[in-house]
Amino acid sequence: VATLIARNEASVAGSRRGGLRDRPQLTAYTSSEAHRCIAQAIDMCGIGSDHLRLVPVDERRCIRVDALKEKLTEDRAAGFVPFLIVGTAGTVNTGAFDDLNALADVASAERLWFHVDGAFGALAALSSTLRPLLNGIERAASVAFDFHKSAHVPYDAGFILVKDAIAHRRAFENPAAYLQRENSGLAAGVTWPSDMGPDLSRGFRALKTWFTFQALGADRIGQSIEQSVRLANELRSRLADSEMFKLYGYSAFNIVCFSHRHDDTGNLNRKIAIDLHERGVATPSVTWLEGIPVLRAAILNHRTTSEDITTFVRELHTSAEKVA
Ligand SMILES: Cc1ncc(COP(=O)(O)O)c(C=O)c1O
Repeated sequence: VATLIARNEASVAGSRRGGLRDRPQLTAYTSSEAHRCIAQAIDMCGIGSDHLRLVPVDERRCIRVDALKEKLTEDRAAGFVPFLIVGTAGTVNTGAFDDLNALADVASAERLWFHVDGAFGALAALSSTLRPLLNGIERAASVAFDFHKSAHVPYDAGFILVKDAIAHRRAFENPAAYLQRENSGLAAGVTWPSDMGPDLSRGFRALKTWFTFQALGADRIGQSIEQSVRLANELRSRLADSEMFKLYGYSAFNIVCFSHRHDDTGNLNRKIAIDLHERGVATPSVTWLEGIPVLRAAILNHRTTSEDITTFVRELHTSAEKVA
């Protein structure tokens, strides 16, 4: 992949337009629900986000594998060079998990790099009941995930795992004169952290992450994610019973999206969110679904309780009556 990107040699200035026409036209594939960071990464490495294909999703907001295959065939026929599929384990909007095994099958049949964005959902692997959501993640060539979300490590603690350590190192190692390795002393060691990424000076994020795992243990982190899913289900069932709110039933994870029943523009939803924020009651966010801004509750805090859900639903109704 690194070699293909180097050959692409698109200038940063020209990257949005996809680089120079006589170079291999690399293309990458992810779902229309993928996080914006994927497009940013494709821009930053000079390929250009015009070459990122946003594949449509199904009714659960997961990538449509049939549409992915069609797009790959179409692109190859048009002379593009597909190189990457990015699946999402827990989308930021609704908490949807792509079918990672199906994506791994396509990646392996097409000889493409398979990356999983597990920023939101990969740590569900710490729970034996939630782990099936991630089936197939073990087949990814690389996985990105955040300890600063469900694992409660202080910001920021983003991590990446790359399966092929040699390819990873080859992409980043730096033969600079001032980085000579020795057999002993401070410059000893074959692999330095700076061989594994673009930073030379870098913070020690791993330390706070290690402390969190020492203090809590992987099982308790898994249990707290399970608890957040239970609370999200509780919120779903309360909203399903509500005459004032309509639930978007996409996800079974810890994100719940819903809308005021009589809000065709989403303006009411936005006002409700602001009112809850300003009253200091709760912090739902607003995202766009089916063409309007809707309310989104992402339950991540391990201190959230069932009583908080009761309070939230009550205060939602209070805000809705107030701003209507
Ligand atoms: C699916 C997904 N990918 C990427 C990101 C970006 O992660 P970060 O905020 O750590 O940059 C997020 C953040 O919410 C996310 O949910």
